[in-house]
Amino acid sequence: MSSAVEKSKLWWQEAAIYQIYPRSFQDSNGDGEGDLPGVISRLSYLKELGVDAIWLSPFYTSPNKDGGYDVSNPRDVDPRFGKMSDAVSLIDEAHKVGLRVIVDIVPNHFSTEHIWFKAALDSKPGSKERARFHFYDGRGEDGEIPPNNWCSIFGGPAWSRVTESDGKPGQWYLHLFDSTQADLNWKNEDVHQDFEESLRFWLDKGVDGFRIDVAHGLVKDEILRDHRDPEGLTRALRLDVSDMPREQRESLLSDVPFFDRDGVHEIYRKWRRIFDSYPGDRMSVAEAWVHPSSRATLYVRPDELHQIFNFDFLIAEWDAKFLANAVDKTLQEVAAVSAPPTWVLSNHDSPRLVSRMGGEALGERKARAMALLTHALPGGVYVFQGEELGLSDAPLSDEDRQDPVFFRTKGADKGRDGARAPLPWSTSQTHFGFTSGRPWLPIPADWRDKTVEAQKSFTEENNLSFLQLYQKSLRLRKFFAALEFSWLTRTNDVIGFTRGSEYAVYSNTSGQELQVALPESFAAFEIMLCSAPGLQPRSSQGASLWLPPHSTTWIKRL
Ligand code: GLC
Ligand code: CA
Repeated sequence: MSSAVEKSKLWWQEAAIYQIYPRSFQDSNGDGEGDLPGVISRLSYLKELGVDAIWLSPFYTSPNKDGGYDVSNPRDVDPRFGKMSDAVSLIDEAHKVGLRVIVDIVPNHFSTEHIWFKAALDSKPGSKERARFHFYDGRGEDGEIPPNNWCSIFGGPAWSRVTESDGKPGQWYLHLFDSTQADLNWKNEDVHQDFEESLRFWLDKGVDGFRIDVAHGLVKDEILRDHRDPEGLTRALRLDVSDMPREQRESLLSDVPFFDRDGVHEIYRKWRRIFDSYPGDRMSVAEAWVHPSSRATLYVRPDELHQIFNFDFLIAEWDAKFLANAVDKTLQEVAAVSAPPTWVLSNHDSPRLVSRMGGEALGERKARAMALLTHALPGGVYVFQGEELGLSDAPLSDEDRQDPVFFRTKGADKGRDGARAPLPWSTSQTHFGFTSGRPWLPIPADWRDKTVEAQKSFTEENNLSFLQLYQKSLRLRKFFAALEFSWLTRTNDVIGFTRGSEYAVYSNTSGQELQVALPESFAAFEIMLCSAPGLQPRSSQGASLWLPPHSTTWIKRL
């Protein structure tokens, strides 16, 4: 068997992977927070949705200062999410219904509650306990100035000062994120060993893969060197900052002293050997914001990681030209390293798709069209919980907010809580069936129409709810997942492409109904799916098709 044929069989290459943010998915014990037993109780929902795998955001022991991305024990389950036995049952139960399980791993930092950090605080400057993190003396007469001028991605300085055992202010430690997330020193062998142990721990429990948090962090340049424009750099790294001139942003991002250093690849080559030493097709997917985006392909070279999130669509406009260029660029880049592309429309760190598309009925309409376009592309797709319900960002009052980004920027950046509101399941139950207690973030009252129960009850074939649209597209995409992609048309308003010889997909990003000529081979065709609610595209004489405004249509040749 040729290696190409073997490769096409790997489950993750064309998989739809559903991201679960466990705290907001399903509560099982009335404490207002989702948990692992809650996830187990909804596996049948996920199966019905048609996804191939779930990726769980962290459920490890954590003081939860950054939604669990501040891990204090990576090899245990936080009591808020359940017990270790629940994690094991979840993996087993998911496998029984044919769902793979991916877990998060957070190698850039540990919580300051981790025993290592506590030991570092109890030890002297220069000790082996401190060498696992980035501890340095400050500058200035009394060491009152941080070792360098880097800023935290979450706002404020990237350094905090500790109090030494004599009660005096002492050394500083580096934290690229919250002050409770101390960056690990990847030049230290203990750090390597500990993460390898965590990988094996979860692989032994049967997980199918890892999502690697801040995979481009880890290795840092010479630390005792100031950056020429630290505030500018932080702004350049923020997706929501749009008023920075392009050249300035590109120049700042082209050389970030703490991201995408060449040394990270050695780590992943080592990890890859661990994954490969296990039976089954274990995989890994990197969260790596790198610049230019072509550098992302370095992470998916054959002896490194398997997938890298492609965030182009996470920030994309509903604009044919922009989207076609993004698709083209992505396909070319990954082809160069023979890695499969991935597509991401939303996650727990970004505004929800419907909101990003402007909200309301029009935002929903564009989001549906965007989803059908994405689901028709080659490669893997990631679906963030609630995306399939067409949820928008939950409006929150500042009192409700919990994201450290909100606090560290003193409210200038509202943070990411809006995308993290709990899921609405049932129309009749209190808190829409998410919890019998008080949800940790309020669920908007108008999500009554958006519950899973409400969306399951749509009965007309040409008026699918968001959920039904996702169910259908996730099922139908399997027909052409492995088939060749080829462009048909790329204009300012229309994108068209084929998958194999039988399937064609068209998106119309304009507000007008538009007619497209179909290739001759599509003289006779049927409409598989159309994103426009309550309306079907019409075909006309000869091989042409009318595309509804803001829509994506899948057709199959007869
Ligand atoms: C990643 C996570 C995000 C977290 C950050 C720090 O970007 O997705 O939620 O805050 O890393 O761990
Ligand atoms: Ca709970």
